[in-house]
Amino acid sequence: MIKLFKIMMTGLVLTSPVVIAQNRPIYLDDSKPIEQRVEDALSRMTLKEKVAMVHAQSKFSSAGVPRLGIPDNWMSDGPHGIRNEVLWDEWYGAGWTNDSCTAFPALTCLSATWNPQMSFLYGKSIGEEARFRNKNVLLGPGVNICRTPLNGRNFEYFGEDPYLTSEMVVPYIKGVQENGVAACVKHYALNNQEKYRGEINVNVDDRTLHEIYLPAFKAAVEQGHAWALMGSYNQYKNQHCCHNEYLLNNILKGDWKFDGVVISDWGGTHETKQAALNGLDMEFGTWTNGLNWSASNAYDNYYLAAPYLNMIQKGELSEKELDDKVRRILRLEFRTNMNRNRPFGSFGSDEHIEAGRKIIQEGAVLLKNDKNVLPLNTHSIKHLLIVGENATKKLTIGGGSSSLKVRHEISPLEGILTRAAQEKITVSYTKGYESPAVAEQDLKGAQRPEEKVINSDSLLQTAIDEARKADAVIFIGGLNKNEKQDCEGDDRLTLSLPYGQDKLIAGLAEVNPRLSVVLLTGSCVTMPWLQKVPAVLEAWYGGSAAGNGIADILFGDVNPSGKLPFTFYANLNQCSANKLGDYPGDGKNETYKEGLFVGYRYIDQKKLKPLFPFGFGLSYTTFKYGKLTADKKNLQIGDSITFHINITNTGKCAGAEVIQLYIGENKPLLVRPQKELKGFTKVYLQPGETKEASITIGKDALSYYDDQKQTWMVDSGSFQAFAGASSQDIRSNYHFEVSK
Ligand code: BGC
Repeated sequence: MIKLFKIMMTGLVLTSPVVIAQNRPIYLDDSKPIEQRVEDALSRMTLKEKVAMVHAQSKFSSAGVPRLGIPDNWMSDGPHGIRNEVLWDEWYGAGWTNDSCTAFPALTCLSATWNPQMSFLYGKSIGEEARFRNKNVLLGPGVNICRTPLNGRNFEYFGEDPYLTSEMVVPYIKGVQENGVAACVKHYALNNQEKYRGEINVNVDDRTLHEIYLPAFKAAVEQGHAWALMGSYNQYKNQHCCHNEYLLNNILKGDWKFDGVVISDWGGTHETKQAALNGLDMEFGTWTNGLNWSASNAYDNYYLAAPYLNMIQKGELSEKELDDKVRRILRLEFRTNMNRNRPFGSFGSDEHIEAGRKIIQEGAVLLKNDKNVLPLNTHSIKHLLIVGENATKKLTIGGGSSSLKVRHEISPLEGILTRAAQEKITVSYTKGYESPAVAEQDLKGAQRPEEKVINSDSLLQTAIDEARKADAVIFIGGLNKNEKQDCEGDDRLTLSLPYGQDKLIAGLAEVNPRLSVVLLTGSCVTMPWLQKVPAVLEAWYGGSAAGNGIADILFGDVNPSGKLPFTFYANLNQCSANKLGDYPGDGKNETYKEGLFVGYRYIDQKKLKPLFPFGFGLSYTTFKYGKLTADKKNLQIGDSITFHINITNTGKCAGAEVIQLYIGENKPLLVRPQKELKGFTKVYLQPGETKEASITIGKDALSYYDDQKQTWMVDSGSFQAFAGASSQDIRSNYHFEVSK
């Protein structure tokens, strides 16, 4: 009996792999190159199967080829965590109990770390969560440039500078895709505001398009090798960007050789012929506004469904473009779902919360710290008062498509309570102000809670009375994810803090000199009370680990090292998009009249004094910069140049400084910004320690886009390199010549 069993086993072991290998079709054989597998799979598909692949079958999925064992594609927002499951054809949550994710900090916080390693950690961690949940496309990250601080979605992007955004997005994509999950970079392109987003036609000159608004997408494709990209809602050259011939066919797929999948934004497709011909590969969310309304069971009527099939069958459209779309989708399948070697992922783990905490620790920006109010003096403070709604509000909910159902969200108050207990400090809390509630939703489209009457005077008075009695006060406020705040679908109306916070902060400052203001926002806000308040920390939206990350900094366990990824304007007149009068357009058209002069480029040009400049951020220690030197004084076009600078920690605690390198051309042939960020490095130093930082730049850093010649150019001439602690705090510069 034992002998017989052995023979059977041996027979099985010997014969079955051989049989499988012999019969395995090429597309299932992962020893074969992907392109060969793509062609093989394509050759086996019927016309109907191909058409089924290029449009959605549910809110977040599209069909594979079930007959051939090719799985469906499943997408999830993005970019801060993996959204909960929704019903097949509804925005409402499906009520699963195993889909509560880790919320990572907002991308503004990530960008403020100025540390590409943090970006990789972020991408890897969120990619693991997506993988575990069997999503093969993560709808993120977003890389649209912060053109105006009023844009409701700035919190989902990396700030105002194309170089910083590019440097930060590439490692994010690599981290995600290591998990066999595609990063879908969005929203391509010129989606710089939410107001009128569905229709607005953006007019922008070619130089500005190439120098400001496209570089991060280009880096995502050419350096990050993103496998997917999402078209935006708006129009460019009077064509919607989800089927825009110039942006998709010419630039993305032509010039940049993108071999991935172009996915429409939800409801961003408008016409069958354009969708077929102008570079769109997958249509999603048609007849929805992408947020909360939709037509039911409309999938067969999508522009790229039955109408497309009919036009092909009638010979009005050829199968050639369809095949190109399907090839791209099959490539996506082989890179993700059908990659047998991809890892399994992990979900809601402590490691992911810790990753988020690290990102907050490096991304929080200390904006002001007079009289060393921070870190909190744990010897003299016995009673600490916390004021402000954001100390307890769930800020992972709301904001539109980035809204999350989270497993944990440590609020700032909880983080502070835990840490203060170790010091035996008594903590009390009072709200001080209140905002109207947003829909407490699993997701988009949930019922709005009933409005309640808020008595703001009494909330304010209670806070001020309490502040009088406390040894120190921490105010935790800012914006939130309510409509017309940091929220998709519309823009902010003003730069001011909402809900009477300015009055409250000013009142607190009057009764307690040891006041720190912690702002949780995704955009800049004005601070009329700034002179009266000794300490201000911008801590962004921190996600699951928010409270712990904030407490780490307030108590001095971690020394802040974040730097602003966008300008904090003193008023809207300092923002070129607002000042030059074209924002937000007339609902149909908008011209980016400010051209290249976005953010600090405009501040420099007009010699303005913002509240806090791009690149600004303090530390609990101080740094001394040495002299900027380089390995060359004269270079030929095409040479690289390496700059060196010594940096010393002159204070009493360990810390990190981001050295920023800006480049400017002295007498350019075409108008250029005075200086532009072209390099940076974050240096970690013990007290008293000195390190030499080196930054190498190449031809790209000296180039501008010549719109006449339609190409990047460097001219002979003299250039300056500026090394600084922010765009307005240049510590040393270096002059060099470039010749042909
Ligand atoms: C947003 C996209 C998002 C999509 C799916 C749209 O409203 O603009 O960023 O990925 O919805 O939720």
